Amino acid sequence: MDNYEVFAPFYDAVLGGRKERVTEYIAPLLKEHAPQASSVLEMACGTGNIMGLLKDEYEIAGFDLSPGMVEVAKQKFPNVDISVADMTDFDLGRTYDVILCLFDSINHLASFDEWKKTFICAQKHLNADGILLFDMNTGTQFGMYRGKEPMGRECGDDYALLQCIAGANDNEVFWNFKIFAKEDDGKFTLHEEHIRERTHPMQDVQDALNEIFSSVSVFAEDEDNPSDKTERLYFVCTK
Ligand SMILES: C[S@@+](CC[C@H](N)C(=O)[O-])C[C@H]1O[C@@H](n2cnc3c(N)ncnc32)[C@H](O)[C@@H]1O
Repeated sequence: MDNYEVFAPFYDAVLGGRKERVTEYIAPLLKEHAPQASSVLEMACGTGNIMGLLKDEYEIAGFDLSPGMVEVAKQKFPNVDISVADMTDFDLGRTYDVILCLFDSINHLASFDEWKKTFICAQKHLNADGILLFDMNTGTQFGMYRGKEPMGRECGDDYALLQCIAGANDNEVFWNFKIFAKEDDGKFTLHEEHIRERTHPMQDVQDALNEIFSSVSVFAEDEDNPSDKTERLYFVCTK
């Protein structure tokens, strides 16, 4: 399956807009749970949208599995340490105060075993009292979009269609991205990519995290009682 290689040049125009909202939500969580933090690593940093908003306050580094996404991020932030790596198996030779993994990047992993491998790798890369902060889409979120009509977006001269297609069960969907990119001669070229997301019950994720981290808290935007009914869950895990 493709992994953002087709989508990378269009990613910011199509999805980049929600970065301020995410950063506004996580900034107070960082202040509360890692008040002394100075170094931040973003796993699955994509084109660097979140890094861009945090880089003036923190020493920031990031990596992503997709060379295309990393190339875009490096063009935007040439002085930031950004590399190609796999969050299920990485060794950066140093530790950080905070590790982030945002905008449902964790949902891109193929199996729950890969989630656990990611948690273990992240834990090893944290300083004492450091935190892992990540979000995940729930089955409720999948259900809200699955099978609906495609969503159309105008992105500069290009047009994008996004559709959420049902997977093998309620815990799997495929995001289909169709980008109609305007060429110099005025004609449009279709670029298409399918991106799979999978989710797992909140309790399973908490149980796996509790085996690896000393404390685990779950949060939700605008909700006091996060659950599988919540659209997007945020986990804060202390080393
Ligand atoms: C929805 S994008 C989010 C990117 C970025 N965090 C943001 O907020 O814009 C998901 C990202 O996860 C990356 N990804 C998927 N599997 C990965 C893995 N095993 N290791 C590292 N990155 C991965 C993809 O390449 C993609 O850039």
